[in-house]
Amino acid sequence: MGSIVLFGPPGAGKGTQAQRIMDQTGLPQVSTGDMLRAAVKSGTPVGKEAKGYMERGELVPDQVILALIRDRIQEPDAANGVMFDGFPRTVPQAVALSEMTDISHVLAIDVPDGRIVERICGRATCGNCGTVYHDTFNPVPASGCPCGDYQEKRRADDNEGTVLNRLEAYHQQTSPLAAWYDERGVFHRVDGDRAIDEITTDLLAVLN
Ligand code: AP5
Repeated sequence: MGSIVLFGPPGAGKGTQAQRIMDQTGLPQVSTGDMLRAAVKSGTPVGKEAKGYMERGELVPDQVILALIRDRIQEPDAANGVMFDGFPRTVPQAVALSEMTDISHVLAIDVPDGRIVERICGRATCGNCGTVYHDTFNPVPASGCPCGDYQEKRRADDNEGTVLNRLEAYHQQTSPLAAWYDERGVFHRVDGDRAIDEITTDLLAVLN
């Protein structure tokens, strides 16, 4: 198996599923969104450049993202491939990625636009362990987060106005990648409008 791409609109469940299938594949999760948020938080030059785009729900320029990815896939844990989450998001990103590493599977999580706002506006993440929750669909267990130190975090871009811009960016700039990867025979679509466990089962079936 080469590297895997988790593909889909904002709030489709890419991060949720990445956490669940990481153990099965042994591939580390590489989330450009997480990398950018860490850069914004620590005030690096990349973070300063990315901040405005992220707040508006627009894509960060390709050259910024590709520099992050080039560095990340040089790290020792990426030697046998990685699981990309939220990358690539444009055809130029996919072309550049194809020159860096082999992609064996693109797993597209299909969710209708009408479900996206409710998913994103109810999201909470444990700041201690990174587990993704939802106020209604996937609440923190009554006994607390299994990590034992739940610290609720909400994302600055998880609001209705920004979500609509993110969806527009997805349809205009990212969804053309589906045909690009389909032509290369690595594209697999899974119905993401179901229970989280059912989606995990289907994604693992594609990989096995
Ligand atoms: P990024 O962080 O990648 O955000 P995104 O693509 O908008 O995706 P999300 O993280 O919002 O959603 P997800 O699919 O991971 O869903 P999750 O599992 O959390 O990007 C943020 C910004 O960074 C972009 O707008 C852009 O500015 C920039 N950026 C990042 N990468 C870039 C790139 N490559 N190029 C350019 N710019 C880039 O689930 C969502 C919620 O739904 C959770 O609450 C979860 O519990 C719940 N949920 C999950 N599955 C289900 C289910 N089956 N049923 C019910 N609820 C569910």
